[in-house]
Order: sequence, then structure tokens, then C-alpha cells
Amino acid sequence: MNVRDRIQQLKEEKGAVVLAHNYCLDEVQEIADFVGDSLALSIKASEVTEPMIIFCGVTFMAESAKILNPDKKVIMPEGDAVCPMANMCSASQLEDAKQARPGAKVVGYVNTSAASKAKMDICCTSANAVKVIESLKGEEVIFVPDQNLGAYVAEKAGVPMHLWEGFCPTHQAFTPQMVEDMKAEFPGAVVMAHPECRMEVLEMADMVGSTSQMLAYAADSKEKEFIVLTERGLLHRLRRDSPLKKFHVPEVAVCPPMKMTDQRSVLKALENEGPEVELDEEVLKAARRPLERMISLR
Ligand code: 13P
Ligand code: SF4
Repeated sequence: MNVRDRIQQLKEEKGAVVLAHNYCLDEVQEIADFVGDSLALSIKASEVTEPMIIFCGVTFMAESAKILNPDKKVIMPEGDAVCPMANMCSASQLEDAKQARPGAKVVGYVNTSAASKAKMDICCTSANAVKVIESLKGEEVIFVPDQNLGAYVAEKAGVPMHLWEGFCPTHQAFTPQMVEDMKAEFPGAVVMAHPECRMEVLEMADMVGSTSQMLAYAADSKEKEFIVLTERGLLHRLRRDSPLKKFHVPEVAVCPPMKMTDQRSVLKALENEGPEVELDEEVLKAARRPLERMISLR
């Protein structure tokens, strides 16, 4: 039996659901039961009925699934797949920032550890960050950890915020010159950018959105060619959903931790029923509140 069929067999036998992020390898997206952006994955994780979740992506995503499903077995095939941005804002640094600005609300991008989430008032993703900030109705905000998403949202919502200095190395690597060169190579192509890109790059984009928002935009658009300023894993669904359109991503658009999980590691995780995501009870409880508050804004 091949790896794919064995995965299917074990999923059925064990009552497991496989969730995967839009940046995962094509071979992982193909065996997943659900593929989405961070927001859709959090919502899906809150609705899962199966007793076991196999989470393909990076640790902050699998931790969110565990926080929302404390009684389920949440398994991450590659437990060392950590988003570097999530490491740029530790719980103790966040505690210091809160002490320095008592009264300010902490809005945290989901790209953070569970321990940091436990110190937040509300979470957000790139898909709903403006809505989250608007829900706070002008309160003082500390926004962590992505300075680019924070600057974009502050401008969109017209609300000044205290920005953390974190960033995504993958999106930060896109430069205005790179975009200029791609526009020259593909004249007339629509430019879609993830809000983790630096502001000078976002200013060159026709559309700014989360990975799933880009998928919807490209599918609905009458245009036929797109420059896509996000991780190249998104190409799989872009091409599947819009087979007659052309998509181009920068050469450097690779997130290494997202590429760690493959079909073999998913199979191993199903066979071993591990490694499981394990979180401290207190952290788990405290981190649920900001995540649920975000999901309730839907
Ligand atoms: P999305 O929420 O748009 O899927 O993005 C997650 C992420 O990590 C982007 O780098
Ligand atoms: Fe983290 Fe960037 Fe990878 Fe997203 S693309 S998981 S923000 S390193």
C-alpha cells in the first residue's frame, strides 16, 4: 500500500482529521481534510468533531488547535517547525511591555506562542486584524509581534498603535526592487501582497490580504496574471482553483519550517499517535480567552 492510501486508512481507523496551512508542501495539502489560512484553521479547529487532529504547519497553529480542543489529541508531525516571528515576542517580554503601559490592550497576531497568547486581550490574524482593532473602539493598543501587519492595520483602521519590532523573515525578504523587476517581467500582472510584507512593498500592491483572501480574490478576478507576494506553497491552491490563470512568486518566497512536514512524517505521526502538543494547564486556559474572543467576532 502506498503512503497516501495508508494515511487514508489510518485516518479512518483512528478518527483523525488532518488540517494543513496554505503554505504546506503540495503533497501534504493533497492528503489534508482541510487546508486554509490561519483564521480558517483556528475556526475549523474549534469545530472539529474527530478525537484526533493532525496539524501540518508551524507550532503556533498546532498550539491554537490544542488550546481550542484541550480534550483532543493534537499531533504535530514536525514538532520543531517553529515560526521565527513567534520567537520574537516571549511571554516575559510581553509582560514587561504591559507593565510599561498599564491600561493598554494587547492585540496579538496568532503567530505567537501559547505562553504569549496567555498574556493577550485578543488575538487576530492577517484576515481579521482590522476588524479586531476596530472592535476595541479607540482603546490604547500594544500590537505584537509583526510590525508590518501592525503598521498596515494602524493605517487602515486609522488608529495609532504601539508596534512590536517583530517580522517574518520570508516576507521581509521581498523588496520594492524585486517587485519592480517582476512587474517589468510580467507587465499588467495584478500584484497581491500579504500584510506581513514591508510597507514600501504593500504600497506597490493592487490587493493586500491573507492567503485565503488572495485565493478568493484571484478566483473572482477577471484578470489573468498575478504576482503573488507570499510564500510559494500558496501556488498549489491558486493553480488548482484558477487553472487558466498565471501566478508568479519571488524565488525567495520560502518558509523553511512550513516545508518540514511531508507525507512520510504525517504517516509516522498517525502510526505513533505523536508527537502530541502538550501545554501547561494554566497557559492553556489563559490563552483560550483571546483566541475565542477573536473567533466570536466572526
Ligand atoms: P495567513 O493567516 O494569511 O494564512 O498567514 C499566516 C502566516 O504565517 C503568513 O506568513
Ligand atoms: Fe512565520 Fe513567516 Fe513562515 Fe508565516 S511565512 S509561518 S510568518 S516565518
